[in-house]
Amino acid sequence: MRMKAIGTFALVLGLLFASSFSACRKAEAPAASEVAPVADSGKGVASMGVVQAPFGMLPDGSAVDIFTLTNANGLKARLMTYGATLVSLELPDRNGAFADCVLGYESLDGYLKASPYFGAIVGRYGNRIAKGKFALDGKSYTLATNDGANHLHGGVKGFDKVLWKGEAVRDSSGVGVRFSYLSRDGEEGYPGALEAVVTYVLNDSNELIVSYEAKTDKPTVVNLTHHSYFNLAGGTRDILGHELTLFADRYTPVDVGLIPTGVLAPVAGTPMSFEAPTAIGARIADVPGGYDHNYVLTGGGKTIALAARVFEPESGRVMEISTVEPGIQFYSGNFLDGTITGKSGRAYGKHWGFCLETQHFPDSPNRPEFPSIVLRPGEILKTMTIHKFSTK
Ligand code: GLA
Repeated sequence: MRMKAIGTFALVLGLLFASSFSACRKAEAPAASEVAPVADSGKGVASMGVVQAPFGMLPDGSAVDIFTLTNANGLKARLMTYGATLVSLELPDRNGAFADCVLGYESLDGYLKASPYFGAIVGRYGNRIAKGKFALDGKSYTLATNDGANHLHGGVKGFDKVLWKGEAVRDSSGVGVRFSYLSRDGEEGYPGALEAVVTYVLNDSNELIVSYEAKTDKPTVVNLTHHSYFNLAGGTRDILGHELTLFADRYTPVDVGLIPTGVLAPVAGTPMSFEAPTAIGARIADVPGGYDHNYVLTGGGKTIALAARVFEPESGRVMEISTVEPGIQFYSGNFLDGTITGKSGRAYGKHWGFCLETQHFPDSPNRPEFPSIVLRPGEILKTMTIHKFSTK
């Protein structure tokens, strides 16, 4: 079923990235040393490149690597194999000054100690499953309840806390990293061995593209997403002044545990509406707890469509997010409370970053009326999200 919904997407993907994908599937990915390093002419003009380097060690002695992707305009994304995590993302402002626009840590240590999913890939099921229970084909499954009474973001050791394999990829369309992870049958309570592949590509159109693929050997549920906390002001202040547009006219209202009630409610005339560009802070006081809601994307689930636009007025930085997913979780960093000191020694206070997590709706395994998150043997889940950066 999921393949049908992504028919047009597959075409777009095929056109845009056919060569890059076939290259990384058929041929052995080039060893890091064979991948052309980033060249800087000294005139500030960088060329596209990807460089792999060690980033630290997990407590069990496994090595974690970091990949630095750079494009011709000098944008730089650093991604590590632990959690397939975006560690930093350097973007220019309207005067050409670069700043790191995602929250996180300078070293692996911080991510191992306390990370509210900073920059990670979240899975096997991103977002919440009520009471950690669902039934599939008449069988009941029980998952960890790691968010009050509910299951959140794949459980105690979700995809954000596992070591992925990383391979540099590079062709004319961009430079990137292909991360792969084999989640065993029964891991965190989910049925089926799941092969997940997440490829990040940075291109010279200033797009960071995240493509996902998954296969299973038993029927299972899958909802993969990317969990960066963006701050287009370079992390220097909170995100309440960022202007957000969401291409969504409905959202999924939630109960106190943030589980959807099942209703798809219109946003018009409420503080939930971002149909016209609005500062995130403009009406946040009227939303108890702040924004942490799934929006029903107008163009979602059928073809790649614009889901969100964010504009930071002081720097002029703009991010546009397009996806084939039917929903997007807008989270305004409500649980950040200043106890985390991240990059550049900054304490991340409330609303210091925002997340826009493209996804299927929360608790879909218990909501047959929501778009399906079931993946069956023989099917290939393919989905994609594009982050496009510019200034105005
Ligand atoms: C998601 C959830 C939030 C919160 C963050 C991590 O975005 O929707 O409620 O759990 O992850 O802190």
